[in-house]
Amino acid sequence: MRGAITWGSAFPAALLCACLAHGQNRLSPDNLAPFVPTPEPVVLRMLEAAELKPGELLYDLGCGDGRILFVAVQKFGARAVGVELSAKLARQTIARARALGLQDAVRVVEGNLLNADVRPADVVTLYLQRLINEKLKPTFRRQLKPGSRVVSHDYEIMGWKPSRVETVEVAQRRHTIYVYRMPPVE
Ligand SMILES: C[S@@+](CC[C@H](N)C(=O)[O-])C[C@H]1O[C@@H](n2cnc3c(N)ncnc32)[C@H](O)[C@@H]1O
Repeated sequence: MRGAITWGSAFPAALLCACLAHGQNRLSPDNLAPFVPTPEPVVLRMLEAAELKPGELLYDLGCGDGRILFVAVQKFGARAVGVELSAKLARQTIARARALGLQDAVRVVEGNLLNADVRPADVVTLYLQRLINEKLKPTFRRQLKPGSRVVSHDYEIMGWKPSRVETVEVAQRRHTIYVYRMPPVE
């Protein structure tokens, strides 16, 4: 995979640059992941794989520059909520939503994704790491309604069986998409 920058490989330097560029405090214990945006073709495939429908509500936990929110609203007719720790990124995303006239469809909560209430979500998107996915599992089990979907870019939810796995190649880098469908209540 020539040219690929993955979190596992080039990570410390990439993390430092990403954090500095986006005004994040790398040393903050709340900062669980640097801002590494999902490429747009991967965003599209994630939302297609999740079968996001018009009127549904998507949550992106750690929404960065809000790109997943905007695609969800503009291309899929959904509504979207982003949770973002970085005040700078959250402010930028809110400003972009206003500039696009999408303030009624896009909401950004500045805060820690580990405290997010995802009960209203039909689809939750993640680009975090396995350890963080692991921490989110109890919340998802407790809060997500049957039939809702969790879509994770590159990092599996260990121990959960994906209903779908897809790969997308962008700029010689292979991205993996894992879709999990919440089971019916027994
Ligand atoms: C890998 S980026 C993914 C951005 C976006 N979801 C995407 O796929 O393009 C991870 C994001 O999580 C944010 N983040 C890190 N720790 C967080 C936390 N505890 N609560 C909320 N957001 C957090 C970072 O600031 C960053 O924007």
